[in-house]
Amino acid sequence: MRILIMGGGGREHALAWAVAKSRDCTALFCAPGNAGIAEVAECVSLPIEDGAAVVAWAREARIEFVIVGPEAPLVAGVADALRAAGIATFGPSAAAAQLEASKSFTHEIAAACGAPMAAHAVFDDPEAALAHLATLAAPPVVKADGLAAGKGVVVAETADEARAAVDAIFAGQFGTARAVIEERLIGEEASLFALSDGETVLPLATAQDHKRVGEGDTGPNTGGMGAYSPAPVMTDAVTEQAMAEIVRPAVAEMARRGTPFAGVLYAGLMITAEGPRLIEFNVRFGDPECQVLALRLGSDLLAALRAAAEGRLAEHRLDWQPEPAITVVMAAKGYPGAYAKGSVIGGLDAARKLEGVTLFHAGTAEKGGQITASGGRVLNVSATGPTLAEAQARAYQAVDAIDWPEGFCRRDIGWQALAREP
Ligand code: AMP
Ligand code: GLY
Repeated sequence: MRILIMGGGGREHALAWAVAKSRDCTALFCAPGNAGIAEVAECVSLPIEDGAAVVAWAREARIEFVIVGPEAPLVAGVADALRAAGIATFGPSAAAAQLEASKSFTHEIAAACGAPMAAHAVFDDPEAALAHLATLAAPPVVKADGLAAGKGVVVAETADEARAAVDAIFAGQFGTARAVIEERLIGEEASLFALSDGETVLPLATAQDHKRVGEGDTGPNTGGMGAYSPAPVMTDAVTEQAMAEIVRPAVAEMARRGTPFAGVLYAGLMITAEGPRLIEFNVRFGDPECQVLALRLGSDLLAALRAAAEGRLAEHRLDWQPEPAITVVMAAKGYPGAYAKGSVIGGLDAARKLEGVTLFHAGTAEKGGQITASGGRVLNVSATGPTLAEAQARAYQAVDAIDWPEGFCRRDIGWQALAREP
């Protein structure tokens, strides 16, 4: 089977790495890919948010299955265009991708199916939003209602911060003039991933991300500085509760509306004293959570994604390896603010030879035989081990083997799970 993966980050490297191992994969392409992905797939340059261009290329290349990594092409309807052209595709329709594109839509679906979320209000008018803030007892969370690459959310510590966040949204800083103001949930965050074929929902493993740039979860939000799986806070009971109260009802509600969700649903959860609450849905694998899921998946990823795309999940089973997995993001100094591109990264071969270590590339390019940094998040140094502590030690040993003075990473990935270990 000839396969195209769309995207070019660490998530897509992990997907390509897993798909390339499948017996059914005879040719693998990735658009745009990166220097690490180029070791397992042929990288092609394509405007991945342009459905017509992707369809034309896929036809020419006789692609039989497409896996869409990031949300932007999904929201732009590229999966719809591919399916309309008769090319099987893993990834939801544009209508179903609204679960990620619009926070107010997610609240609407959650309300319709009874999935518990934070109390919230939606505003299209700055005066009304500011008046609402004045009625709140505690500083809320203020969100721009649109795709803002993780940057449109302010967890306000003070009333002033909340007002400033509302002002920023209505000043047009996030490309939307709608604000969602939410009650702040208290608890530990975790991510739950589930494959859906529109009807049947199959939970994947759990994971925890580290969204803040600084150790101890401080500093600005990023796309994610590291992840591990499983997430001990997601006990079997909590996972089942989240599946029963949040994920399955939301998938059923989407089907009831005639816009079934087929793909991977990523539920961002807060595990509160009252049980799991939905923070947000994403309509794709998490990055870097996908990397640790891929390392732990014992069965064929391609077969699972095809079963989801083809409505066959009811007969599908997944195997997970019990060993925990961890990934440490190495980012360019300055990220998530401004950073330089083009610095040379050494030591990758030494790092990847270490026991239990797998290197995924996130933002790299090859120039004259050297690997250079081409993005903010650059490498995902990943490892498995008999315990999370051992996996973490292996990952940091690999980080130390990498020679990249222009990069940095957090040194505490996995701390929440390790703090629970006796
Ligand atoms: P989002 O883009 O909706 O995932 O929000 C980004 C981050 O803001 C989340 O990962 C949480 O850490 C935090 N957050 C969002 N909504 C809430 C909430 N209602 N209560 C507490 N934290 C939140
Ligand atoms: N790691 C967070 C995300 O993929 O949205």
